[in-house]
Amino acid sequence: MTPENSSIDIDFQVPCVHRLRFTNDVFGKDQEVLLNLLEASGERRPRMQVWVDEQVAKAQPNLSMRIRGFASQHADCVDLVGNIQTCPGGEAVKNDIHIVERMLKVINAADLDRRSYIVVIGGGAVLDAVGFAAAIAHRGIRLIRVPTTTLAQADSGVGVKNSVNLFAKKNWVGTFHVPWGVINDEEMLLTLPDRDFRNGFSEAVKVSLLKDAEEFSRIEQNAERIRNREMDAVRPVIRRSAQLHIEHITQGGDPFEALEARPLDYGHWSAHKLEPMTNFELRHGEAVAIGVAVDTVYSSLVHGFPKEDAQRVLNCLRNLGLTLDHPVLHETEELFGGLEEFRQHLGGRLTLTMLPEIGRKIDVHEVDRPKMLQAIEQVAEFMSESAKAVLND
Ligand SMILES: NC(=O)c1ccc[n+]([C@@H]2O[C@H](COP(=O)([O-])OP(=O)(O)OC[C@H]3O[C@@H](n4cnc5c(N)ncnc54)[C@H](O)[C@@H]3O)[C@@H](O)[C@H]2O)c1
Ligand SMILES: [Zn+2]
Repeated sequence: MTPENSSIDIDFQVPCVHRLRFTNDVFGKDQEVLLNLLEASGERRPRMQVWVDEQVAKAQPNLSMRIRGFASQHADCVDLVGNIQTCPGGEAVKNDIHIVERMLKVINAADLDRRSYIVVIGGGAVLDAVGFAAAIAHRGIRLIRVPTTTLAQADSGVGVKNSVNLFAKKNWVGTFHVPWGVINDEEMLLTLPDRDFRNGFSEAVKVSLLKDAEEFSRIEQNAERIRNREMDAVRPVIRRSAQLHIEHITQGGDPFEALEARPLDYGHWSAHKLEPMTNFELRHGEAVAIGVAVDTVYSSLVHGFPKEDAQRVLNCLRNLGLTLDHPVLHETEELFGGLEEFRQHLGGRLTLTMLPEIGRKIDVHEVDRPKMLQAIEQVAEFMSESAKAVLND
């Protein structure tokens, strides 16, 4: 063989469409939106299996009846197969790989194929776990996500990743799999507990700090209204955050994270470590609030981020009702292990995103640990001063 014909390298692109819809009652007045996403497959009506987060099913006891009502009303264009399935909500669904195996059995028993639809309704954890099962069954069944938390509507639900946790590591096993569609339905948020309602906004703050200074100011100004669940303040923030995430994924040039930097994971090297360190008692959004606070203060100590803006970020996160400290944050020996895990997840050099100013990011390849410790202490101090101020009120 001559050197010219001993290897073949060809660049190619995979055409993908990302479909994001906003509704306000997807199984009621806006049901056409879901219907329109279900494409017929030749002569056959599209088959659809529905998975619901157990907590959502409990909080919305009419939901399965409404889903069945939707399917029977449109029986000529959709075939709802089997029962409506439920699975545990929250991180529990990602912490037991056997649950994924059970999902695969159910998918197999229903004879779903690549042109069938799995509709998953739930928080980010359930979307991740069912999304993983859907991605590996037959190498990929069409997935329609209906995120039911603010975090999943503002961030994870519009992403192209799925995963479960393994070896006590977050998101260790999973795939990149572009969902067929995502429906952000406002009604779904009504039953969300306050704690989870607040969580989503740490990711909205994160993406605004990375990409949109004006949006950060808007969140800052409306923080208390958002915390009080005033939907006129909440709606635009979720929309903008989802849009910034989706634009990054579809136009940022690196949807499957092959490059060194993972800017959307700003503040996540510590967040991803804090979650298992607290035995997942801290929710993802809560851990991200702490991680964003720490990396923002660190940016002010090392990368020229203005100190008064760092103060604004901490105020904003606190006013959204997010707590920026936790006892395990001070177990820094173990916490710093998160840096290596973050690097190892991607391979290559350690690459973290930091901020020289709001709306502008840089990649850095090393961390000044004494300064990072200082950042952690400053964030903790801010939180304890805030608590004192509240007590003195
Ligand atoms: N794939 C990605 O790109 C990506 C990105 C960010 C986060 N994530 C993952 O998302 C997960 C966090 O998701 P989350 O913040 O949505 O929380 P979650 O899925 O853990 O849900 C929080 C709790 O609220 C319950 N719940 C959800 N919606 C409800 C509703 N409408 N009414 C009543 N209860 C409801 C859930 O059952 C759970 O108990 C983490 O596992 C995180 O790693 C994934
Ligand atoms: Zn996140």
